Amino acid sequence: MTENATAISTSLRARLLRWLLLPGLMLAFGLLAKNYLTVSEMANRIQDRLLVALAVTISEHAINSRGDLLSRDIELLLEQFTRENTYYRVQGPDGAFVTGDSGLPRLPAGITLEPGVPHFYNAHYRNEDVRAVTMKYLVSNPSSNIYGWVTIDVSQTRRERDNLIYDELLGSTTDFLVLMFLGGVFAWVGVSRGLAPLRRLQQAIRRRSTDDLRPIRHAMPKEVTEVVRSLNALLARLESSITANQRFIADASHQLRTPLATVQAEAEWALRNASDQQDRQALERIVSQTRQTARLANQLLNLARVSPEGRKAVRYEKTDLLALAASVTSGMVRYAIRHDIDLGFDDQSEGMNCEIETGNEVLLQEMLGNLIENAILYGTPGTIVTVRVIGRGVAVGPVLEVEDNGPGIPEKDRDTVLERFVRLDEQNGQGCGLGLAIVKEVANAHQAVMSLEDGKDGVGLKVRIAFPR
Ligand SMILES: Nc1ncnc2c1ncn2[C@@H]1O[C@H](COP(=O)(O)OP(=O)(O)OP(=O)(O)O)[C@@H](O)[C@H]1O
Ligand SMILES: [Mg+2]
Repeated sequence: MTENATAISTSLRARLLRWLLLPGLMLAFGLLAKNYLTVSEMANRIQDRLLVALAVTISEHAINSRGDLLSRDIELLLEQFTRENTYYRVQGPDGAFVTGDSGLPRLPAGITLEPGVPHFYNAHYRNEDVRAVTMKYLVSNPSSNIYGWVTIDVSQTRRERDNLIYDELLGSTTDFLVLMFLGGVFAWVGVSRGLAPLRRLQQAIRRRSTDDLRPIRHAMPKEVTEVVRSLNALLARLESSITANQRFIADASHQLRTPLATVQAEAEWALRNASDQQDRQALERIVSQTRQTARLANQLLNLARVSPEGRKAVRYEKTDLLALAASVTSGMVRYAIRHDIDLGFDDQSEGMNCEIETGNEVLLQEMLGNLIENAILYGTPGTIVTVRVIGRGVAVGPVLEVEDNGPGIPEKDRDTVLERFVRLDEQNGQGCGLGLAIVKEVANAHQAVMSLEDGKDGVGLKVRIAFPR
């Protein structure tokens, strides 16, 4: 298999699903990341506003109480409302510590605070991540002992904020998984339905018999129409090339028949008049070989006629199998007697209809002639050959059987013997190995099922042709 063919052999469904689901997955991850950033930024903004409010409130309290710490009650209240630990430090305009937590993280170095503009940053305090604000706050109350821009730092743990982000992420991840699952299911169903016409096309092609080269007429989606058109063009080319081949074989064998007949007649005449022993032997070989070659030309012509291309012009009509079989059999009785074979006819129609709805008499005669001829030629003197017709049943069509008690065909050879030019006994110089291939083609032309079985009591051969209902 070429590299290209290997690449194409991966399933179309898998390719479509990959191209649908992979970008979907990437998109969903992108959305999740964006969601995370938005939520954490929003949570930061909310906490930052709270921090500023706290900073103002705490500094007002510190100044009004002339440097007192917040009472424990207020601290507890704060913790209860914000569900975070809150730390603060107030410094006077001169930088002197006024109240709060002196160990609180300081504003990162190199940042100059603008009066009244809060500066937010992340820090670490008492083994926890904290969000912090530092701002300058103007105290203009002359009654206070502190006057001017005080600096206030407020830090707050980020537990609640992290919980919020976690909850939000969990929620959106669950939504995302459900969406992905539903998307996958819809994509699977969609792709399957989309590929249904291809499956129908495949089944239509598979259902065809090997000799059906008619164009494919199924309605197909736009994307597949071109493929079907090319396939039909290929079928048409194939059909015309097969037709040309068949015609050539038919013409060639037809052309061969006349000169062969002349050679045979001349050789037979020469044989009758030859007296020399060596000449006679040579002439006998010529006669026998010419006869066999003439037989080959004849069988080739017959095969060309019954082959799918050759039988295109054939007309099918209601044909009485019983009458046809009886007439072909009686026509061959003398031939059988010459070979010391007991050829008989067994009417098992029991009054049932033996008509084939779409039969062709010439093809059927050709078929039966070959079968009887085989039974006679391969049987030994005294062999009994029976041509049998079984009438139509409730669920089955009429059946034609040719049974003999001759040498039979071993089970392992019963398939190959139907192929062209296959002969089991090459020494028996009479045939050319085309008879059963012709029979098979005629059976195909009638949609009949052909089988080779053991004869009665396991002796000989029974060829059974079961016609459709
Ligand atoms: N009734 C039979 N009993 C035993 N062997 C048979 C019988 N019919 C066919 N065969 C075997 O099957 C082979 C193929 O038969 P087929 O009719 O296809 O070709 P053929 O008889 O050799 O040549 P021809 O094309 O002239 O009929 C024969 O060569 C023979 O060996
Ligand atoms: Mg034969």
